[in-house]
Amino acid sequence: MPAAISIKGISKNYGALQALDDVSLTIEQGEFFGLLGPNGAGKTTLISILAGLVVADRGHAAIMGADVQSAFREARRMLGVVPQELVFDPFFTVRETLRFQSGYFGIRNNDAWVEEIMAHLDLTSKADSNMRSLSGGMKRRVLVAQALVHRPPVIILDEPTAGVDVELRQSLWQFISRLNQDGHTIVLTTHYLEEAEALCQRIAMLKQGNIVALDTTENLLSLHGSAKKDGEGKTDLEDVFINIMSGNAS
Ligand SMILES: Nc1ncnc2c1ncn2[C@@H]1O[C@H](COP(=O)(O)OP(=O)(O)OP(=O)(O)O)[C@@H](O)[C@H]1O
Ligand SMILES: [Mg+2]
Repeated sequence: MPAAISIKGISKNYGALQALDDVSLTIEQGEFFGLLGPNGAGKTTLISILAGLVVADRGHAAIMGADVQSAFREARRMLGVVPQELVFDPFFTVRETLRFQSGYFGIRNNDAWVEEIMAHLDLTSKADSNMRSLSGGMKRRVLVAQALVHRPPVIILDEPTAGVDVELRQSLWQFISRLNQDGHTIVLTTHYLEEAEALCQRIAMLKQGNIVALDTTENLLSLHGSAKKDGEGKTDLEDVFINIMSGNAS
């Protein structure tokens, strides 16, 4: 069984800036994986390389065994990405946007699935609204829907809950958790660490293009947390993150 995501020795420079420095990481099928790190750590760069949008200077990456360069189309079909930036065509409606996305992947008769995704993301009432008329959070829901239209086995969400209200966050996490239970591999990037703590089984932390921590959420909490003053020795992922990023990790 190929790994969901295999990253081997990936480096990427932007001029003098090293965005990724020899990153290697394997994410197995079925994992709910967290990719964390401060602003500028290289998370989106790594995701863009996996999606074939950015070419690495060195190294290899594959999605479900398909190389993101030499087997681009196959790799891309295996992957659904919810991008950090809001990009869309303002003149199409929500339903049209999702149907076109199906067409991009050459999928016909996908209407039932498109309607189901819209229902899960509470978009049905906006199905015939133009994209430009949607609020920021609604647009983000469409980005999530767009990533799912081709039923990819591997789903990467780059800060999907930024600017999103509590209700959508909860319905989104229910929906994503169900997809994970159904066997989809989920990779989540978020700055809401309590979200990562609740959802992710395993976590990688990036700092200045390097992986500085990689372990199960449970181990990270027990090995790197500092006891809270007010609690009963319980730690949370935010303490762990701060400890690791400041170099105080034990
Ligand atoms: N196209 C580009 N040209 C030049 N520099 C870039 C480009 N894309 C990213 N960078 C730089 O690479 C580094 C990593 O950026 P990246 O977007 O991957 O970080 P990130 O971990 O996703 O951060 P955030 O949490 O803010 O989204 C940053 O220093 C960024 O300024
Ligand atoms: Mg980013």
